[in-house]
Amino acid sequence: MSKVKFYKGNDIPLELHKVRVVQKLNLVPIERRLEAMKEAGFNTFRLSTKDVFLDMLTDSGTNAMSDNQLAAMMRADDAYAGSQSFERLQKAVLDVLGKKYLLPVHQGRAAENVICRTFVKPGHVVPMNYHFTTTLAHIQECGGRVVELLYDHALELKSDHPFKGNMNLEKLEQTIQEVGVENIPFIRMEASTNLIGGQPFSLANLMDVRRIADKYNIMLVLDASLLGENAYLIQQREEKWKENSMAEILKMMTGLADLVYFSARKLSSSRGGGICTNQHALYEEMEDKIPLFEGFLTYGGISVREIEAMTVGLYETLDETMICQSPNYIKYLVEELEKRGVPMVTPPGVLGAHINAMKFCEHIPQDQYPAGALAAALYICSGVRAMERGTMSSVRDENGKEILADVELLRMAVPRRVFTLSQINYVIDRVVWLYENRHLIGGLKFVYEPKVLRFFMGGLEPTSNWAHRLMEKFREDFGDSL
Ligand code: F0G
Repeated sequence: MSKVKFYKGNDIPLELHKVRVVQKLNLVPIERRLEAMKEAGFNTFRLSTKDVFLDMLTDSGTNAMSDNQLAAMMRADDAYAGSQSFERLQKAVLDVLGKKYLLPVHQGRAAENVICRTFVKPGHVVPMNYHFTTTLAHIQECGGRVVELLYDHALELKSDHPFKGNMNLEKLEQTIQEVGVENIPFIRMEASTNLIGGQPFSLANLMDVRRIADKYNIMLVLDASLLGENAYLIQQREEKWKENSMAEILKMMTGLADLVYFSARKLSSSRGGGICTNQHALYEEMEDKIPLFEGFLTYGGISVREIEAMTVGLYETLDETMICQSPNYIKYLVEELEKRGVPMVTPPGVLGAHINAMKFCEHIPQDQYPAGALAAALYICSGVRAMERGTMSSVRDENGKEILADVELLRMAVPRRVFTLSQINYVIDRVVWLYENRHLIGGLKFVYEPKVLRFFMGGLEPTSNWAHRLMEKFREDFGDSL
């Protein structure tokens, strides 16, 4: 599981760090949690952290910072232009990602905005392994369309396929021929495919995609927000590369892409983002959008302190004892829940443990958002804030009809080095209780539905009085426990 083996194989994930700064958490009583959920419109995004015990909404901007990152933040070179902090970041991008030219942006979706505005025109089609919510929104905003090219097994939630994020190569060639090269601005590969459960692609697959991109002379763009974890799983799962270092694998991956972009909120444990390339012509095409949307070219909307933290974080990505912490906790969480019969997405991926909500809540129709309802129910019975990744995170078609998501997942994110194993065991306990009482969970309906990215701020209400009944059952079983 980690590099340390336990006697007689009783492996548990062992932390190779110690905790020196702590934040007190509140676990408010279930009566308050039910109230808070009502106030939040049954949408976990709208909860205040004062009501949240374990925040498993996302790893974005919530990974623990290292002592070295905090120390680096103190020597930030605050300058509007020509900051040495930015020069240090450029060097880290070259050293770790192997790219010479860097455009800084304030976060991942800002990179998507710049890339899409530069390259995507109305009628364009962007083939990808799978979409991410903000990527899809930006491509559509520019008049483009997304085509997802996964193999069938990628959507089999219970599987032992090590690389469910692989792109389907036959479908890629077929799409290029059908749509025409002139209508494809780029092919996008997303490391650790977020929305299908943090599932990696193999290096062999990325090499094949590169070969096809070369054959048709199409640009290959890599979303590297979860690159470190994908590289770690390549090292663990792809026989050919098991002796290679993280540094070598990361460079091989980025070396195959013309353009690499990332959310530093995920990649390097802080804030910010970036777009990098070795092709000066590509850099030039995007360059003028940075001062327009982000800030001067040597800070791009990121505070210089955060630039320093990004820099150190990028070097830390090379250390597998750091990168493996979250995937190893996730593996533990998934395997323990599976043993107790909870339908989990397997193999365990990165970013978080994912529950198959369609199976957990078989009785809830998909247009009543089973994963959203499960997120609300889990919060009520535990104070754990997870995230819906299903139809609520999807969109409606032009006639207002729901486009049902391929999968309904509840994501319990495990940010790096944030939780303890006893907290993970608490999550297991409450999820198991909820599974045994799943018949009590009911559906949700929108009462306030924003047009773009509705899942962030949308408001919902339960289709019946189920949340109250869930609370009563909790009291019956747990007495006056929090
Ligand atoms: N690409 C991927 C693969 C992501 O996971 C994210 C963000 C982005 C792009 C956008 O980056 O948030 O910095 O603008 N994922 C977060 C999540 C929000 O919770 O999974 P951003």
